[in-house]
Amino acid sequence: MIIDILTLFPEMFTGIIESSIIKRAKENGFVSINIHDFRQYSNKPNKRVDDYSYGGGAGMIISVQPIVDCLKQIPNYNKAKKILTTPSGIKYDQNKAFELAKEEHIIIICGHYEGIDDRITHYIDEEISIGDYILTGGEIAALAIFDSITRLIPGVLGNEESTEVESFDEGLLEYPQYTRPQVYDNYKVPDVLISGHHENIRNFRHRMSLKKTYEKRKDLLDKLLLSKEDLEYIESLKQKKDLDEYEN
Ligand code: ADE
Repeated sequence: MIIDILTLFPEMFTGIIESSIIKRAKENGFVSINIHDFRQYSNKPNKRVDDYSYGGGAGMIISVQPIVDCLKQIPNYNKAKKILTTPSGIKYDQNKAFELAKEEHIIIICGHYEGIDDRITHYIDEEISIGDYILTGGEIAALAIFDSITRLIPGVLGNEESTEVESFDEGLLEYPQYTRPQVYDNYKVPDVLISGHHENIRNFRHRMSLKKTYEKRKDLLDKLLLSKEDLEYIESLKQKKDLDEYEN
């Protein structure tokens, strides 16, 4: 996969690109990441990229010209999936990550300041937000997007299993996991995990996933078609909660 990122702050990307799994993915040829400083394409004096907002208003708006000129020098840019990071985009999630991981070429444009001249929408395919909060710019959003996509490219994670069972895959949050020691500060690893009984372990983990999702992200449960056993288990959690509240 090729990922091109257009930004005014290329230095924000170096740490992530040169570390850990992303670095290895790059070195092993799974992904090629190119960072472009679109300020270099400005045709204004002193390479200015922003200007006042037509109609008035506080803050500066980024012009389309440097972004589009930068975009057009990327080989085969017209065939790539072009994304703008902005708080007013569609909300990013794991399904979107799976969808984007299938693309051959992705270009991410990082917004900044008060925003970009709206005519940028004629040159992109999608606007993506990573959540309902405002960052100082789109770089952190771009990092989150390309990090989550890169790890889904087959072969990037050494152990293929690790993308198989994880939060959101079945629409549930991931079950809790433990490593040695068996007892830490009086906190014990659940007995079933030491039993060696694979079916019990599978059932336990599935229930823990359901419990965690019920407690933390009920909205995810609403989207799932659950089995009769799962529904009964969730009902028992609800009743236990009612009882706990009654007793307190
Ligand atoms: N730029 C500023 N805030 C953002 C957000 N939440 N998502 C994507 N881009 C942004």
